[in-house]
Amino acid sequence: MSIKNKQIVLSGIQPTGELHIGNYLGSLKNFIELQDKYQCYFFIATYHSITESYDPKVKHQQILDLAATFLAAGLDPKKCIIFNQADIPECTELAWIFNTITPISELYRMTQFKDKSSKQVKNINAGLLDYPVLQAADILLYKPNFVPVGHDQLQHLELSNEIVRWFNNKFGEYFQPIKPLLTKTPRVMSLLEPDKKMSKSAGPNHYIALSDEPEVIKEKLKRAVTGTGTEEVMPAGAQNLITLLSEFGTQKQVEYFQNAIQNKTIKYSELKETLSTAISDKLADFRAERNKLLSNPKKIELVLKAGAKKAEKIAKKTLKEVKELIGVA
Ligand code: TRP
Repeated sequence: MSIKNKQIVLSGIQPTGELHIGNYLGSLKNFIELQDKYQCYFFIATYHSITESYDPKVKHQQILDLAATFLAAGLDPKKCIIFNQADIPECTELAWIFNTITPISELYRMTQFKDKSSKQVKNINAGLLDYPVLQAADILLYKPNFVPVGHDQLQHLELSNEIVRWFNNKFGEYFQPIKPLLTKTPRVMSLLEPDKKMSKSAGPNHYIALSDEPEVIKEKLKRAVTGTGTEEVMPAGAQNLITLLSEFGTQKQVEYFQNAIQNKTIKYSELKETLSTAISDKLADFRAERNKLLSNPKKIELVLKAGAKKAEKIAKKTLKEVKELIGVA
C-alpha cells in the first residue's frame, strides 16, 4: 500500500525530562509497532510542556533527549514523521482560530486543568486552561484517523471532537472526527507506593527511568515495596513486579515467581534480582544507542528539522484551507 492510502496516526509526548518504563510500555512501545502499519506523526509537545514551570536553560536539552529516546527506542524517521511541535507555528495559529469557537466553560471542566491548577497554584496561566485547544489544533492540522493516548487524555480527545463539531457547524463540513486508539497496555505502578501509577512527580525512587544504569535499577528495585511472602492474595507491589517481569523477562520466569508467591516460598530478593537483570539487559542496547545519539546533537537536530519540513507541508495546506473557510484570508 502506498503512503497515500495509509490511515494516519498522530500522537505527542511532552519533553519534561527522562521517560520511565511506564511511559515506555504505555506509549512509546506502541508507537514503534504503529509505524509499520500507518502513516505516523510523532511529535515532541514542547508548547504543552511550557504551561508548567520550567527552566529555559534545560528545555532545549529535554527536547533533544526526547528525540534521542524516540530514535533509540526504535522510531525510524524513514517510516514516520518525528518533529518538534514548536517548529510548526501553524499549530498555534489554528489553536487561536479554535479558541474563538470554544466556550471557556468547556475548558474549566477539564479534569487535567483542575488537577494541574490545584498542583501549581502559583502558576495557573492561560496556557494551562487553553492546553486542550492547542492539542486539538496539533491533532487536526494533520487530519489523523487515530490518536493513541492514555486514558488521562481521553477527555481532551473528546473536546477535539467537540471542536470538530462546532467548527463544521459554523463554517461547513471540513474536519472529520478522530478516534482514540486505546491499546491494551500494562498498568505500571510506583515502586514505593504500588497503589499509585508510576510517575516522576513522586520522586526518583518511585520509577525506573529508561536511561537508568543497571546499578541504579538494582538499587531502586531493592527498595521496591512487595510483601512478607505470607499473604493469601498477591500484594499490589508483588503484582507490579510480576507485571514488569512479564514485559521484560521470560514466560518461564513469570510462572516460576507466580508459583512461588502462591506457595508462599517466594524470596522477594530473588524476584528483584531476576527482574533487575531482565530490565537492564532489555534496555542495554537502547541506553547505548541513546548515549551515542546524544553525543552528536547536530544529528538529532537534523532529524527534527527534516520531520518538521514534512509536517509543515500538511500543516500549511490545512491552515490555508481553514483561513479561507472562515473568511480571514
Ligand atoms: N497532552 C498530551 C499528554 O500529555 C500530549 C499531547 C499534546 C498530545 N498534543 C497531543 C497527545 C496530540 C496526542 C495528540 O500526554
